[in-house]
Amino acid sequence: MTIDKGQKTSMPYKLLFVCLGNICRSPSAENIMNHLIEQAGLSDAIICDSAGTSSYHVGSPPDRRMSAAAATKLGIKLRGQARQFQKSDFQDFDLILAMDQENYENILTLDRTEQYQHKVRLMCEFCSRHTLKEVPDPYYGGQDGFNQVIDLLIDACEGLLTKVKSEEF
Ligand code: 4NP
Repeated sequence: MTIDKGQKTSMPYKLLFVCLGNICRSPSAENIMNHLIEQAGLSDAIICDSAGTSSYHVGSPPDRRMSAAAATKLGIKLRGQARQFQKSDFQDFDLILAMDQENYENILTLDRTEQYQHKVRLMCEFCSRHTLKEVPDPYYGGQDGFNQVIDLLIDACEGLLTKVKSEEF
């Protein structure tokens, strides 16, 4: 999507964030991105959703520890209900952001015809202040891990918004 150059692209531009359970990292990415999109006045132009590669937590709200970190560090409430990634997401979204390498590979495996590989990217590609290549899974760790996920995702979401605005893909 190009907002200021007037090129023809899909509107609204649709982003899907994917992790394993869809209760920690990907709902955080979705809600942080929505926060930045609202601040930028682009709510009509960019739409976000999230999903998990597993069905472990389908129907559950974001993890309490993740919500606490998002509230403390950014003052936002995490909204959402976990769902599993499905093949139709390849068609329905313009860009699919995997939180780690395992999620990335599991998503690509579902694209049997390999026609959607170009839509799938690793979230940390968009970081400019952090050097980690993956968003670490915080589920079995302490509160610090959840706080670090928020910091990392703020960096990645800021970079992602800049790219989406300029359509530098
Ligand atoms: P997420 O975190 O993939 O960031 O939502 C996890 C949530 C649940 C589990 C693992 C990671 N689990 O094993 O249940």
